[in-house]
Amino acid sequence: MSAPALNPPILTATGLTKRFGATTILDNIDLTVNAGEVLALVGPSGCGKSTLLNILSGLVAPDAGQLRVAGVPSAQFRDWRRIAYMFQEDRLLPWRTVRDNVAFGLEATQTPRAERDRIADEMLALVGLEGRADAWPHELSGGMRSRVALARSLAVQPDVLLMDEPFSKLDPTTRSQMHEELLRIQAEGVASKRMTVVFVTHDMEEAVVLADRVIRLAARPGRVADVVDLATLARPRVPTAPVVAEQVRVLRAAA
Ligand SMILES: Nc1ncnc2c1ncn2[C@@H]1O[C@H](COP(=O)(O)OP(=O)(O)O)[C@@H](O)[C@H]1O
Ligand SMILES: [Mg+2]
Repeated sequence: MSAPALNPPILTATGLTKRFGATTILDNIDLTVNAGEVLALVGPSGCGKSTLLNILSGLVAPDAGQLRVAGVPSAQFRDWRRIAYMFQEDRLLPWRTVRDNVAFGLEATQTPRAERDRIADEMLALVGLEGRADAWPHELSGGMRSRVALARSLAVQPDVLLMDEPFSKLDPTTRSQMHEELLRIQAEGVASKRMTVVFVTHDMEEAVVLADRVIRLAARPGRVADVVDLATLARPRVPTAPVVAEQVRVLRAAA
């Protein structure tokens, strides 16, 4: 009997180590992200989750170890636009309208202006902000701003979406709506290829509702403490479902 086909890894980190001054922040991290999976990173504040995302995005180089993107060593990888990064802060440009913030990443491509605007408006509709395209960032609530940041990340149709505590500023109802939207967008993907998502959260319920696998990092120095495989947990996952609640309880107990 042959084993079921596994998606190829899109990100492979081996022995990643990162120091700031004399302090080792990440210590010898091995991590594989398979194409099309949703991966949650959890762990105590300061354990290096954001630093790890920075490395996976190509923004920060590790002091030791290697990152491969689609099999290519990161130093040789040229197509970083395939990886979108939604930062912990929304980083909206205050002098640009909402539409022009969302279209920002497309300006580096050959996309004509009218097409950029059309895509921006489509992404804004996806995150429930139709009609706000001409607003300025300062006119929006924190939750709306983070939805604009998500729309901006999605506008470039990335293969991989990295998100640092993306929904932490949303009220619970909006957060659940965004979870559904994200999973729908992820499954539709680009050119019918499931998008790969790696996200940081403090919310174990969010981790269980969204993720195929949960990577728990331990602190000082940051290292992988535990990998929880949730791939077989049926979807859609409702927080009130007993199997979901039980998994949340297990993760909270381990934290
Ligand atoms: N640029 C930096 N210079 C020095 N120390 C940093 C820098 N970035 C992060 N750190 C430190 O590295 C540790 C991990 O930070 P971070 O990755 O932001 O953790 P987390 O996202 O898990 O809360 C923290 O102790 C933080 O103070
Ligand atoms: Mg962080």
